[in-house]
Amino acid sequence: MKVLVVGGGGREHAIARALSFNKETTIFSVMAKRNPGIAAVAEEILLEKETNVPAVLRFATSRGIDYTVIGPEAPLEAGIVDRLEEEGIGSMGPTVAAARLETDKGFCREMMETCGIAGCPRYRVAHTASDAEAFIRGYDGDLAIKPIGLTGGKGVRIMGEHLDRDGAIAYVRSLGGNVVLEERLIGEEFTLQAFVDGKHLVPMPLVQDHKRAFEGDQGPNTGGMGSYSMPDHSLPFVNRRDAEQAFAIMKNAVAAMGKAGFPYRGILYGQFMNTARGPMVIEFNARFGDPEAMNVLSLLESDLLTIIEKTVAGTLSQADVRFSNKATVCKYLVPEGYPDNPRTGEELKFAGKPEAITYYANIEERDGRLFTMTSRTLAFVGVSDSLDAAEEIAESAATSVSGRVRHRRDIGTSRLLEQRVSHMQELR
Ligand code: AMP
Ligand code: GLY
Repeated sequence: MKVLVVGGGGREHAIARALSFNKETTIFSVMAKRNPGIAAVAEEILLEKETNVPAVLRFATSRGIDYTVIGPEAPLEAGIVDRLEEEGIGSMGPTVAAARLETDKGFCREMMETCGIAGCPRYRVAHTASDAEAFIRGYDGDLAIKPIGLTGGKGVRIMGEHLDRDGAIAYVRSLGGNVVLEERLIGEEFTLQAFVDGKHLVPMPLVQDHKRAFEGDQGPNTGGMGSYSMPDHSLPFVNRRDAEQAFAIMKNAVAAMGKAGFPYRGILYGQFMNTARGPMVIEFNARFGDPEAMNVLSLLESDLLTIIEKTVAGTLSQADVRFSNKATVCKYLVPEGYPDNPRTGEELKFAGKPEAITYYANIEERDGRLFTMTSRTLAFVGVSDSLDAAEEIAESAATSVSGRVRHRRDIGTSRLLEQRVSHMQELR
């Protein structure tokens, strides 16, 4: 079978690597910049913007592609899945209408409210800046301010964290309206991803991502600096009831989309805040998380091609998806100065072959040498029986690289985990 992977980051390297274990799968890739990790397992690459749908379509049809996996959200929003479907090519990824769960935050909240789906914070969709301003002035408490539309995870500002009330008003004015204003949720975040075949959902291990650039969750938000998962596929600050509730929310969202005439197929990513009231939805994404894909796909024991085939056919069941009971810790190396002022073109040197799995992301290979670019460079994933051991594997790989890059040392450490657990205990 020929599978086309769309996208060129760490997430897509993890997808391509998982596909590469099946020797009957031939991997093709479309990516804007050449990812050396994907290039190493791909039969052929098209260097092209992932949102150039006609170019992707021509490549897919001329190469006789059987299935595609869409990594990032932008091509989903550009309607890539709809167009591929018209050509008879099935995708791991939703249609443009179903992808609105991610691409239109206002739609998502309104759908949750109308369908009575639990976990929806109080919110207001404001189309004009003056409507937003009036709501902020009259609201008693802190708000999260979210521009409607894709922002690469960088458009959300939180009152009480990044902004005061005047700052919030200035921010909505600068956006000129079209924002979702919602109750600021307090708790601990976690990610639940599921394979969805239109009706059935199969959950993946829970993961916790780290958005802030610096240790101790300081500094600006990033695409995600790293993440971890536990051998029991849960997290110590998420109890069984929380996990069941989060999964029920995702099932209800998929059912609601089906009922509304937009059946959801692909990966559904639920970002939850575990609060004193249980899990609340921060957002849905219509794709794997990056870095979270690297945690779960490093644990996948089942054949990814079979999962894709059954997802497209609508016959996916729990028995098709098995993850090993190990812990994972993923640490991204990023250029010094990332995200505001990344140092590009800096050479990286490896001291030997790391024990961790290496996933390449925004990195340039020239004459066998590796250089930083503007975004996250590469990630190391440690996989082991305990979180501590997985953390050690990832950390030692990360520190073995020399060059103008940095990473968060605290991700996956027991110290950080204890803080999360005690924060949750305080809240309950
Ligand atoms: P998003 O781009 O929606 O993932 O938001 C980025 C980050 O903003 C999330 O990972 C949360 O840390 C934070 N955030 C988003 N919505 C809320 C909310 N309602 N309350 C508190 N924090 C939020
Ligand atoms: N890790 C967050 C995201 O992929 O959106």
